[in-house]
Amino acid sequence: MRVTFEDLGRSFEAEPGGTLLDLAEREGVPMEAACGGFAGCNTCRVRLIAGALGPEDEAEAPFLDAPGQRLACQARIVADAVVRLDPGS
Ligand code: FES
Repeated sequence: MRVTFEDLGRSFEAEPGGTLLDLAEREGVPMEAACGGFAGCNTCRVRLIAGALGPEDEAEAPFLDAPGQRLACQARIVADAVVRLDPGS
């Protein structure tokens, strides 16, 4: 599967099942994760532009306020996807 960070112009091969945050950390994508990946900070937020991610976790809901937004620490790779960084405060 291929995950593209559109705003960075970077694209990576990824195994299914891992999170976007795992991929970002492995590939050196500049993504903050202030809470350490526990759906508590909103700094890892992305927006899905195309493709698909795994089902939304209910822990994400308080941080999402626009269509396509997801927390990278909770969003699992299940298919090709194109995302943009969209960190909240
Ligand atoms: S790393 Fe904190 S919400 Fe994802």
